[in-house]
Amino acid sequence: MTAKKILITGGAGFIGSHVVRRFVNRYPNYEIDNLDKLTYAGNLENLRDIEGAGNYRFVKGDICDASFIDQLMNTRQYDGVIHLAAESHVDRSISGPDEFVRTNVLGTIVLLQAFRQYGNTATGRFYHISTDEVYGELGETGFFTEETSYKPNSPYSASKASSDHFVRAWGTTYKLPIVISNCSNNYGSHHFPEKLIPLMINNILNKKPLPVYGKGENVRDWLYVEDHAGAIDLIFHDGKLGDTYNIGGNNEWKNIDIVKIICQLMDEKLGHSAGTSESLIEFVKDRAGHDFRYAIDSSKLQNELGWKPSVTFEEGIERTIDWYLSNQAWVEHVTSGAYQEYYKNQYQENR
Ligand code: NAD
Ligand code: TYD
Repeated sequence: MTAKKILITGGAGFIGSHVVRRFVNRYPNYEIDNLDKLTYAGNLENLRDIEGAGNYRFVKGDICDASFIDQLMNTRQYDGVIHLAAESHVDRSISGPDEFVRTNVLGTIVLLQAFRQYGNTATGRFYHISTDEVYGELGETGFFTEETSYKPNSPYSASKASSDHFVRAWGTTYKLPIVISNCSNNYGSHHFPEKLIPLMINNILNKKPLPVYGKGENVRDWLYVEDHAGAIDLIFHDGKLGDTYNIGGNNEWKNIDIVKIICQLMDEKLGHSAGTSESLIEFVKDRAGHDFRYAIDSSKLQNELGWKPSVTFEEGIERTIDWYLSNQAWVEHVTSGAYQEYYKNQYQENR
């Protein structure tokens, strides 16, 4: 195989670092550039193990900086872009939507334009990584399919829906070779401790309250992050151009039940008596516009490309907890002063 030049954006973040690692390890003939602005959510510590690999290069930059992106794309003439860079936290999108519009919408358009002008559009592809939240919320039953209408409710999901539309429009109007996937909630190592699962683990370790929004009855489908990275690998190589693929774990949980499982496992691992961590649970003010339930029908991906999740939730959550227990220094490094401030604002007002 001839060397393929690939740009992965947002590769220093949670999912991006798993995708970069997978590509660097599996495809020694590819040249993989990781472009990341290193916001609060991006951290090069996530990639220490591969930073010296010969087929890997880190590029610090902002996807919204059109002249910088043009120059990079012109110099490198990429065969493929796997676009993950985004603002990704719903609560932050509620308190500060502007950055979500800037990065998720405008930044995506900058990348589309530059790939159109300088990329290998003859045999390459532009792959946009998106979320199931673009479909809005479900009631007690049903699943999102690739045909479900978009009905985003949060500024985050509205910005991702918008960027999906722009990607598809560039495919139709300019014949850009594009593909999109929409995935459910990921969990695993290197997850910034502002999202539900790592926040609960971290708070238990620090004997801090476990803030559960509303009654904890909202439902999410959880997929182990390495299974998402596997799906991205498949779709990048074999997905049909112009198509969308839904990715999910078929693993739905009410928030309160997931928090209780984490509490129980943490008590066992920390040698605490049963119920110690659960006593930290606090029901706090609900999130504004809180989507009730997400659930994914991923049969298209399973039938057309033969994907299925390989890590059970029992295995995945245990691996995740073990990773946080062995990597407390990582948590200390990423939870900088700015994060402490965010945390104070987010939770003190809600109690
Ligand atoms: P993350 O917040 O952990 O990481 C985002 C990365 O993007 C960070 O490294 C950050 O530095 C970088 N970034 C942000 N703004 C940038 C900019 N302007 N220019 C360059 N880099 C920038 O996010 P994540 O959870 O890893 O999500 C990655 C992608 O997957 C996002 O597009 C998200 O919408 C999507 N997604 C996430 C989930 C999930 O459960 N986390 C589920 C489905 C889809
Ligand atoms: P989150 O991890 O932020 O992902 P998303 O909002 O993208 O699904 O939240 C997952 C669920 O957990 C969601 O229903 C909101 C809830 N939640 C809490 O109850 N408490 C918290 O402190 C956080 C961050 C989330």
